[in-house]
Amino acid sequence: MITLGIEGTAHTLGVGIVDSDGTVLANELDMFRPAEGGLHPREAANHHADVVSDIILKALDSADLSVKDLDLVSFSMGPGLGPCLRIAGTAARAMSCGLGIPIVGVNHCIAHIEIGRIQTGCRDPVLLYASGGNTQVIAYSEGRYRIFGETQDIGVGNMLDKLGRELGMGFYAGPTFEKLAKEGSKLYELPYSVKGMDMAFSGLMTAAVALRRKGVPLEDIALSVQETAFSMLTEVTERAMAHIGKTEVLLGGGVAQNMRLREMVAEMAEARGGSMYVPDRRFCMDNGAMIAWLGNEMYNSGVRMDVRDTAVRQRFRTDEVDITWR
Ligand code: ATP
Ligand code: FE2
Repeated sequence: MITLGIEGTAHTLGVGIVDSDGTVLANELDMFRPAEGGLHPREAANHHADVVSDIILKALDSADLSVKDLDLVSFSMGPGLGPCLRIAGTAARAMSCGLGIPIVGVNHCIAHIEIGRIQTGCRDPVLLYASGGNTQVIAYSEGRYRIFGETQDIGVGNMLDKLGRELGMGFYAGPTFEKLAKEGSKLYELPYSVKGMDMAFSGLMTAAVALRRKGVPLEDIALSVQETAFSMLTEVTERAMAHIGKTEVLLGGGVAQNMRLREMVAEMAEARGGSMYVPDRRFCMDNGAMIAWLGNEMYNSGVRMDVRDTAVRQRFRTDEVDITWR
């Protein structure tokens, strides 16, 4: 069975094609990068509308397939920005109706877990999903993927991007933080905000801006921000592992590309007698292949959707989905 998946929760419009073995036949994407300021949902949606047809054709082309070869279309139903989600949903519905093939709407966060499992070979991990819009610690328990801890305010990547903008680093500041932190030498204390199993990042951001006003070098700020935020993520992940008795950790989301975060999580996992898994960069960031793969898994386990049931869900929670394929 060949599935084409369309991702469109936020910045990225992605189209992936997979077969039922989990082979990724294509994974094309185009990311909206605002010229200045943050991500405006409508501007991002306009971008997605402009590129979606081209990216679908590009994916078919790189898989060396025609639309007639497709057996299923899936799309990111949520969570995400409404205008963006609706572009992906509309494109998927048009393909389903036009080609007469079934459609499945999938949960974006669960797609990160499932592509990570198939790509890295881990079996039953705790997922640390750290991206711009999302920061959650998720694990499988009794038929659902449950959220063990999550951010109470903004995603850790969003915090880096917003802070980066305040500090004049430009948009998409995560990689810049990583580079600068390597040159940092002094660690400043910043608000470490873990409450129960949840985290918050905006206090840290405000405190980092205040440090800059006092003339602290950017390198030291980057070092301090990374060490503090990533320690919070590692602590919550470790507690989830201990609580639920799992030894594997899977990283997902754009922030998983950060080598310092990987180092901290790997060290924690090894100390617990477990190990860390990180999918290839193309599968950590938002991408269409993960949407296609989860659509394939859901469909093959018996999930069916009518086009009428495919309205997007901006606040689609990870733990609302019955996991029928495990
Ligand atoms: P989602 O819809 O899942 O919330 P997203 O739109 O934020 O995702 P992703 O590609 O998953 O997109 O993640 C992008 C985030 O990852 C940005 O906030 C970016 O700054 C951050 N990021 C990318 N590379 C790094 C890095 N090396 N270190 C830290 N953060 C990074
Ligand atoms: Fe994501």
